[in-house]
Amino acid sequence: MEHAQKPLLRAFSGEAPWPPPFWLMRQAGRYLPEYRQLRAQAGDFIALCTTPELAAEVTLQPIRRYGMDGAILFSDILMLPWALGQPLRYAEGEGPLLAPIRDAAGLATLRPGAVRANIAPILETVARVRAGLEAEAPRTALIGFAGSPFTVACYMVDGKGGKEFAETRRLAHADPLLFAKLIRLLVDSTVEYLLAQAEAGAEALMLFDSWAGLLSPAQFRRWSIEPAAAIVRGIRKVRPDIPLIGFPRLAGPLIVEYADRVGVGTVAMDTGMDPRWAAANVAPGVTLQGNLDPQAVVAGGAALEAEARSILAAMRGRPFVFNLGHGIVPQTPPEHVAALARIIRIG
Ligand code: CP3
Repeated sequence: MEHAQKPLLRAFSGEAPWPPPFWLMRQAGRYLPEYRQLRAQAGDFIALCTTPELAAEVTLQPIRRYGMDGAILFSDILMLPWALGQPLRYAEGEGPLLAPIRDAAGLATLRPGAVRANIAPILETVARVRAGLEAEAPRTALIGFAGSPFTVACYMVDGKGGKEFAETRRLAHADPLLFAKLIRLLVDSTVEYLLAQAEAGAEALMLFDSWAGLLSPAQFRRWSIEPAAAIVRGIRKVRPDIPLIGFPRLAGPLIVEYADRVGVGTVAMDTGMDPRWAAANVAPGVTLQGNLDPQAVVAGGAALEAEARSILAAMRGRPFVFNLGHGIVPQTPPEHVAALARIIRIG
């Protein structure tokens, strides 16, 4: 389909198609039996992300079931530290584990010059998915993504998943010059990585700042808004028109300043954000995306329908993309996702 007619790209560009286009964060993953099967076949998660044939197949799996308007590249935000040479593994039941970087010597081990070669299989996945969509789901647009520098740094510095990232926040306060060097390196590598995804066929690009909301307002401006704005400037120099989505999770009212200053056309709301408040306070030219509680999809039934309808009612008439407020969880019954798709399609 003509690029400009895809509903998702129209919404990202400020139009308000209704019913709204939708996709779901983590729409490919463990809640789907066909994903678990390919995951087992690949062995480990990094092998799955770096085997283009398998990663492309996994990206397309939810589209075949539910016909989402957006397909998101199957990869992970931590593939950038991996491409920079930081040792990474995903331990069963524990999540990601990295060799932590907390000083200048650690920073010196990163190899920005190696990124281009290391991401080659991921770019091949992008190209394969784009061709697959052309053939199977021509209305569905392909979204590329990266983590925002602060969120990626949370894993690089703490060395593991969590909910606090105390080491990272401490380092940002204790040695802001060192932390700024890490963030600057991530800004530059992220621009390179996202532009390469666009060149390979991604039609929109999303920045996940999942942990931005842990920061104080001053730290949020310095480590979330400013680096995201620098990434947007870097991308805009080469691709002035590609739709960009920012997700400053847990930002609360700072989402307004994020929307004003970062320069993305679309801002994603987390589950805690009141969509009516966002509609009233975020600049009217900005497309909003979100923000159904992933647990409502686990619950299903009347509760799911009521929550989804209240979001639709709040967003009617505004440039809007229906999504979850955070990633879909492995416990989600696949038939509840089908029910949600039917509710959204009625509008
Ligand atoms: O479908 C999609 O959304 C595309 C693929 C995607 C994954 N991760 C696949 C994945 C995307 C966009 C991400 C982003 C990501 N990864 C974020 C930002 C969004 C968010 O959830 O806040 C973050 C913080 C990560 C880091 C990460 N990756 C963690 C903490 C974990 C372990 C926790 C978990 O859910 O297992 C991962 C692993 C991961 N990334 C899985 C998937 C499908 C599970 C891996 C498996 O199959 O075992």
